[in-house]
Amino acid sequence: MVNIGVVGIGHWGPNHVRNFSQLSGSTVVAVADTSEERRKAILASYPEVTAYKTADELFAHDGLDAVVIATPTATHYELVKAALGAGLDVLAEKPLAVTAVQCRELDELAKKNGRVLMVGHVFLFNSGILKLKECSDDGSLGKVYYGHATRVNLGPIREDVGAVFDLATHDISIFNYIFGGCPTTVSASGKCFLQKELEDLAFLTLTYPSGQVANVHVSWLDPKKIRTITLVGDRKMVTWDDLDPVGPIHIYDKSVIQEPYYESFGEFHLLAREGDITIPKVKMSEPLRAQSQHFIDCISKRAESFSDGAFAAGVVAVLEATQKSIEAGGAPVEV
Ligand SMILES: NC(=O)c1ccc[n+]([C@@H]2O[C@H](COP(=O)([O-])OP(=O)(O)OC[C@H]3O[C@@H](n4cnc5c(N)ncnc54)[C@H](O)[C@@H]3O)[C@@H](O)[C@H]2O)c1
Repeated sequence: MVNIGVVGIGHWGPNHVRNFSQLSGSTVVAVADTSEERRKAILASYPEVTAYKTADELFAHDGLDAVVIATPTATHYELVKAALGAGLDVLAEKPLAVTAVQCRELDELAKKNGRVLMVGHVFLFNSGILKLKECSDDGSLGKVYYGHATRVNLGPIREDVGAVFDLATHDISIFNYIFGGCPTTVSASGKCFLQKELEDLAFLTLTYPSGQVANVHVSWLDPKKIRTITLVGDRKMVTWDDLDPVGPIHIYDKSVIQEPYYESFGEFHLLAREGDITIPKVKMSEPLRAQSQHFIDCISKRAESFSDGAFAAGVVAVLEATQKSIEAGGAPVEV
């Protein structure tokens, strides 16, 4: 049984408390939050946990094995460092820190101390995203030309980070996972309408070493909630719609083929090839539950997660390049 503590029980932290309380291999023994109101609220639902005001008090809790850091992004670096220093395994919310240098430092510290450091890139545990990855890896799409992601909604609006650090983190983690590494360059534009220096929307173009391109549109200032990704290959194309309860994945047996002209030998024209659209069965389950189980498995087996500090450093490096490109009016910035 893994004894878990959760630091930060605002909007998202209680979901960690619920999942780690319900899994058979873990139990939540303590929480910490600087807000008395939040501590009271969690104790009303989980009276058996100990609620501390500070993370340091929680880290010293007798018998604690691991912690979840679910506080605002700017606090992650110090809290993760302190937790690793206290000999605990750590699941940190995304993004791991505000710079890639900080992420790499945390990754090295975890490895040096023999601790698990996993980052909650929760979409890597989403069944639909796993299906996209499978379609890309098994060759059924052929050569993947490009990807496109839309993640927009009206709110929730954060006051600590902009839409790039809050929302694009997810799509960058997804494309880095599917394409097997980081892009080489990013060009991006973004706008701050509601708050100074915190962009409400951004358009990113990520160019990967293989020449594959991914476009990402994020916004918390949009009338409609959309969470979609399209991958276009030279043999097939696939779409994912996270909000489609029936079948989030649609595989289009469509492509563009070259046909010779009848009249002139050696010349070709491009024709659209229209085939079937299939909706494969995708097991719907809570991605956060799968992520929590993976953390417990890593702890039990003393194994590193694929979503470790090094992977998170790649994501944050892209976020940093994105902000530089926005400041440079969309100029390409190397990652
Ligand atoms: N994976 C996802 O889909 C997802 C969704 C939402 C949020 N998140 C991430 O979770 C984290 C928290 O987001 P949120 O929306 O819950 O934020 P929030 O502001 O609602 O909650 C943060 C809580 O942390 C507490 N806190 C702040 N500093 C603290 C400290 N030093 N010690 C103890 N408590 C402290 C605050 O009092 C607050 O209750 C962020 O990193 C965010 O990116 C991830």
